[in-house]
Amino acid sequence: MSEVLETENIIEKDDAAESEAVTETGTDTKTGNDAFFGNDTVTEAATVTEAATVTEAATVTESDSDSDTETEAAPEAPKDMVIRVRDLYKVYRTGETVVKALNGVSFDIDRGVFCSVVGASGSGKSTLLNMLAGLEPATKGEIVIAGQHIENMNESQLVTFRREHVGFIFQSYNLMPTMSSVENVALPLAFRGMDKKTRNRKAEEMLELVGLGRYKANLPSQMSGGQQQRVGIARALVLDPEIVFADEPTGNLDSKTSEEVMNLMQKIVEEKHQTLIMVTHDDHLASYADIMIRISDGKIIENIDNRKRDTNWIEYFR
Ligand SMILES: Nc1ncnc2c1ncn2[C@@H]1O[C@H](COP(=O)(O)OP(=O)(O)OP(=O)(O)O)[C@@H](O)[C@H]1O
Ligand SMILES: [Mg+2]
Repeated sequence: MSEVLETENIIEKDDAAESEAVTETGTDTKTGNDAFFGNDTVTEAATVTEAATVTEAATVTESDSDSDTETEAAPEAPKDMVIRVRDLYKVYRTGETVVKALNGVSFDIDRGVFCSVVGASGSGKSTLLNMLAGLEPATKGEIVIAGQHIENMNESQLVTFRREHVGFIFQSYNLMPTMSSVENVALPLAFRGMDKKTRNRKAEEMLELVGLGRYKANLPSQMSGGQQQRVGIARALVLDPEIVFADEPTGNLDSKTSEEVMNLMQKIVEEKHQTLIMVTHDDHLASYADIMIRISDGKIIENIDNRKRDTNWIEYFR
């Protein structure tokens, strides 16, 4: 009870000072391709000529290079720690109603770890993922990703940060409907200014890796849900990001296909030593992860290390 009161005090006290950081309902959360690529570039990329797209990608890289140097490093974070969250709060205000979607969350994730965030609907899972990916500002708290304090970044720094470090896998796949599998997977590479031949080769390799070698020319509408999500995974991983965020990646799939997609994600991130943060409401799918963070009403109520559990079992039989 005293902890609850203390939390209330923190929030009430800070509300006045940081009222601009409290999100009013109606504020857009950036989702889907816009979040992934920034602004309206996706729509442009789909319609403009290849030359224009590449020019734009080159311009973005150039103009953002200054901001990189301004980004504060976090020298105190251990080298293999890829995510550090401290006392994270997110408060939404809808008229008179205040919702503490995140109510003082702290945790660390090491590089190469698969972490699931599990909890009931409305517990704050997507809010947490959006904060970690820099898609929404936190009300209060510290988020250090790959050595950078993202809570201090401006929008252009965040776009660069996401392009360089982060891959997203969405529940609704978010593929471009008029583009083939190869074109969809190659899209993030176009924003790196890569020539068409190289990016198509890389995209084809990724499609082979996710078992879709025969579906390179297919449009999303010509594939099953599971196949579309595998294209989504290939697209998220083609830039070889350090961190992959997935919000209910199997939410639209049946249980057998969900298991296949989980196994695939698990295999790829393990091979590439990437860090995967996956949100799910499903305990069974969450248990695939190395670390399970359970949240309820915006607070972490359990942080289970499944790797330790396995070790304990082995030791038990020794
Ligand atoms: N933009 C917003 N404005 C106001 N309240 C919001 C907003 N986004 C989320 N919330 C509230 O914050 C809380 C956490 O929402 P969040 O979307 O993080 O839940 P979730 O765990 O992802 O749920 P689900 O499993 O249903 O996707 C909920 O009470 C929700 O109503
Ligand atoms: Mg959600």
